[in-house]
Amino acid sequence: MSEIMPAACVIGHPIAHSRSPMIHGYWLNQLGLKGHYNREDVLPENFAEFVRSLRDHGYVGCNVTLPHKEAAFRLLDRASARAQHLQVANTLWFEGDVLCGDNTDVEGFIANLDDRAPHWDTHLKKAVILGAGGAAASIIVGLQERGATDIRLVNRTIEKAEILAHRFGPTVHPTPWSDLHQSLTDADILVNTTSLGMKGQAELDIDLDPLPRKALVTDIVYVPLETGLLRQAKQRGNPIVDGLGMLLFQAVPGFEHWFGQRPTVTKELRSLIEDHIRGVTP
Ligand code: ATR
Repeated sequence: MSEIMPAACVIGHPIAHSRSPMIHGYWLNQLGLKGHYNREDVLPENFAEFVRSLRDHGYVGCNVTLPHKEAAFRLLDRASARAQHLQVANTLWFEGDVLCGDNTDVEGFIANLDDRAPHWDTHLKKAVILGAGGAAASIIVGLQERGATDIRLVNRTIEKAEILAHRFGPTVHPTPWSDLHQSLTDADILVNTTSLGMKGQAELDIDLDPLPRKALVTDIVYVPLETGLLRQAKQRGNPIVDGLGMLLFQAVPGFEHWFGQRPTVTKELRSLIEDHIRGVTP
């Protein structure tokens, strides 16, 4: 009788460029576990049906990426506190017949900083976040959990920043792009969540002059690994953390739910994905 291997997948549209199969494949191999992790390209109109029949497709759970994260949350029987807070889920698994879900982007963001810049939150008060999309929401929650009391949410479209500020409370201050320069004064951390600086997009062109040199600068963009913002920050002496670790650490809880062992974000895994980003590996 053939053995049934647990399988998980990442569901998105488009999904061809997802690096999640490389990450989970590395861990399955490293831990000597039998299992599969696939990409599933599913259109929004087919998403609910696909998730409802996830087990018929042979899956014990899945990751969910753009544009399905809100829809995934609405399909859950049981949502983690973070998923409820954000109304978004990116990691789904079953407990018996109960479909459970979490938002692991918050954990990914925090764990990356803990790993690359230990004690980054010791004196955390003021944060500046660039952008007000879905990624910014997770980062607001992460920074609030670690004690930020003054979060300047700087966005080109101020209405989007106002909506997030309304959702996440009075510590979040919607800020127009024209006030970015002065908002950097006294900041402890600067986070880019816009797509600016990503390969193929315009550069993020900002004057970091008022930013204290001890402020941590991080970017959720990880292609390229060192964005223009990170290069500029490094040149003036700020500590920097690139966005690759967020991708790696957000994958940890899903793997543990599906395959039963908690994996480690090793240097070897990071190098593997770095090489892929640089185009060294196919
Ligand atoms: P995600 O959900 O991944 O965060 P998103 O919702 O598309 O992605 O958000 C992208 C962010 O990048 C937004 O804050 C967007 O600003 P707007 O809300 O004004 O659209 C920001 N962004 C994208 N291109 C930009 C540009 N050229 N200048 C300034 N901000 C930009």
